[in-house]
Amino acid sequence: MAASRLPYPLTLTGDGIILREWRSEDLDDLVIMLDEPDIARWTPMPSPFDVEAGIAYLKRAYQGRIGGQRIQLAITTDGGRPLGEVLLFGVDLGLKEAELGYLVGRGHRRRGLASGALSLLSSYAQNSLNLSRLLLRIDPGNTASTAVARRCGYRLTGEPPILQEGPYGPTSLDTWELVEGRTGARLERLRNVAARRYGRRT
Ligand SMILES: CC(C)(COP(=O)(O)OP(=O)(O)OC[C@H]1O[C@@H](n2cnc3c(N)ncnc32)[C@H](O)[C@@H]1OP(=O)(O)O)[C@@H](O)C(=O)NCCC(=O)NCCS
Repeated sequence: MAASRLPYPLTLTGDGIILREWRSEDLDDLVIMLDEPDIARWTPMPSPFDVEAGIAYLKRAYQGRIGGQRIQLAITTDGGRPLGEVLLFGVDLGLKEAELGYLVGRGHRRRGLASGALSLLSSYAQNSLNLSRLLLRIDPGNTASTAVARRCGYRLTGEPPILQEGPYGPTSLDTWELVEGRTGARLERLRNVAARRYGRRT
C-alpha cells in the first residue's frame, strides 16, 4: 500500500549516486546551481535566483519534506556537495500516481547524473511507495530533458499538451509515463555509468 505521508528523512543510493536531503549549508551551491539560463528557461524557478530565493526554496523544501507531501533530494556522488536535484510530487494515492522532476548544475551535466537520479527515485517510487503511474511533464523543445526521460524508460503518452504562459511566451508540456517494468532494466544498464564518469566504480 502506498504511504500516506512520504518518508522523511530519506537517502537513496545506487549507480554511483547518493540522493540525500537538502541542508541549510547547501545554500551557496544551490544559488549557483539555480541562477542559470537553462534552469530559468525550462523550470519554474525565479530568475535571477538570488540568496533570498535560495533561502525561500530551502525553507519550502524542508516544509514539503516534513509535511510528507513531496520528496525533494539533492543529487550527489558522495553525500557531499549537491550537483542537482530530483523530486517527486503531486502524489495521488487513489490513482497511485505521482510526477517527478529533475535538474543538474551546469558544470555537472552529461555525466549520467539526471538519468541515474531519475531511475533511482522512479524505482523507489514503484517498489517502496507502490506508485504505479509515474509521470514527467516536459516541453518538447527541451531536448536534454526528453533524452533523460527516454533513457530512463519513460514514453510519451497521448495526453493533450498542457498549455502555459511563461516568461518566454506560451509553452506546452507533454506528459511522459514510465513504461512498466523498465526501471529495473534501466538501473542495470546504468550501473556504474555515473561512477565511471566520475572516475570510480561501485
Ligand atoms: C535536463 C538535465 C537535467 C539533464 O541532466 P544531465 O545530468 O546532463 O543528463 P544525463 O547526463 O543523465 O543525460 C541523459 C541523456 O540525455 C542526453 N543529453 C543530456 N543533455 C543533452 C543536451 N543538452 N542535448 C541533447 N542530449 C542531451 C545525454 O546525452 C544522455 O543521452 P544518452 O542516453 O544518449 O547518453 C539538465 O540539462 C538540466 O538541468 N537542464 C535544465 C533543467 C531542466 O531542463 N530540467 C528538466 C525540466 S523538465
